[in-house]
Amino acid sequence: MVDHLYDRYLTMQTTENTVISDIKVCGQGTLIPIFNGKHARYINLDNAASTPALIYVQEKVNEFLSWYSSVHRGAGFKSLLSTHTMEAGRNQLMEFVGADSEEDCVIFVKNTTEAINKLANRLELTKDDVVLTTLMEHHSNDLPWRSKARTLHVETLEDGTLDLFDLEQKIDRHKGRLRLVTVTGASNVTGIMPPIYDIAELAHAAGAQILVDCAQLAPHRKIVMGPTTSPRHLDFIALSGHKMYAPFGTGALIGSKRIFSKGVPDYTGGGTIEVVTRDKVYWTSPPHSDEAGSPNVVGVIALNASLYVLSSIGMEAVARHESELTAYALEKLNQLKGIQIFGSTKEVSLNDRLGVIAFSVAGVPHAKVASILSFEGGIGVRNGCFCAHPYVLRLLGISPEDVEIHISYVLNGDRSQLPGLVRVSIGIYNTLADIDVFTAMLEKIISGDYQDDYVVNPTTGEYMPSNFDTRLLEQYFHS
Ligand SMILES: Cc1ncc(COP(=O)(O)O)c(C=O)c1O
Repeated sequence: MVDHLYDRYLTMQTTENTVISDIKVCGQGTLIPIFNGKHARYINLDNAASTPALIYVQEKVNEFLSWYSSVHRGAGFKSLLSTHTMEAGRNQLMEFVGADSEEDCVIFVKNTTEAINKLANRLELTKDDVVLTTLMEHHSNDLPWRSKARTLHVETLEDGTLDLFDLEQKIDRHKGRLRLVTVTGASNVTGIMPPIYDIAELAHAAGAQILVDCAQLAPHRKIVMGPTTSPRHLDFIALSGHKMYAPFGTGALIGSKRIFSKGVPDYTGGGTIEVVTRDKVYWTSPPHSDEAGSPNVVGVIALNASLYVLSSIGMEAVARHESELTAYALEKLNQLKGIQIFGSTKEVSLNDRLGVIAFSVAGVPHAKVASILSFEGGIGVRNGCFCAHPYVLRLLGISPEDVEIHISYVLNGDRSQLPGLVRVSIGIYNTLADIDVFTAMLEKIISGDYQDDYVVNPTTGEYMPSNFDTRLLEQYFHS
């Protein structure tokens, strides 16, 4: 039977050249409850945390569920189809990120965090090895390294950008013991995009490899891992489906097969072996050696469907649309008194930043701003330190002594004074009108034109309207 037979049963079809205005996501325009029994159209400006599913993703998942069966383990037609579709998904993802089809493989995992932990487990690092991460990382690209090798942080500059001089110096100083440079493709706090291909070149020249955390970058900009023969190639990347309009529990680690052909997989069991006897184990080859247990084929279908849509729009068009909205948002925010933007406020360049903007409002705690935006404007944003404590504390310029005071409050269960910022983050389906609604609500907050009836919960640090009753949530969804 030829492989193409399966494609008759589950095909990915989008119109050639989808345009941004055709893009629809699940729950777009949903009416949600706000203050005083009123309702508002929900505006999601929290895409850096998770994006809603594309309608196309939802449709493909629904279609696939009728064909779903066990992957790699069944002889039935539906098992064969599920296995074929999952394997085809690897190739599609390789193509999407410009991986080296000879050298690289795609290992499906739950999310970016799991992908980075897997690489940390599989690189066979020792305490004498040096891993260079940066101060602007999400904790998921910092903590997994700390227990595996001597982990050093590249500094950031006042405007939140990476200190490239410090990077070069640290690479130089640790040449010989430096195994890996690991850097985010884009900050989840400021949207700043470090020059990853230049950094790759520096790392390779020092005999090290590079991992790029693409959790933020992948949904918004084209990634080209490149051939492994190029000094500017990316050895490993990690990404999450739930930030790419495919929230069905799949992420991926993509990189050199060679690394995963060595040693023992970090998780062992079904699917990871060729043969097992009572006292011997012969591991199978990557990627399957590193995907223990039954895989999440539904998540892979969802991710594939999203990649089809993103490819058919073209990542350049995605970048242009989102940059236009980012420039508009920055311009409007810069005009508002009392708003401080953290990170670069400069004109938007496609290559320098994503549509992720962190800011504060003078005199109003970040958690309260976020709550007012939600309960009075129907706008979803995030506040706090965004799982990037070292970076946010640095951006806020909090002294080590004050950090200690905050730590003691938190350890005593009081988060009401936690430092932090408010973050808006833009996705492909957002519009200029969304930004207008957001900035209009922000203007009201600045001028004090809101219901001042919010109470802070010291345990969580969240602000809520004093009459908020969680039973309201159950009226909207329960399983
Ligand atoms: C830059 C960055 N890296 C890693 C992660 C972790 O992603 P996940 O929660 O999908 O594992 C995030 C999530 O916000 C992120 O923004």
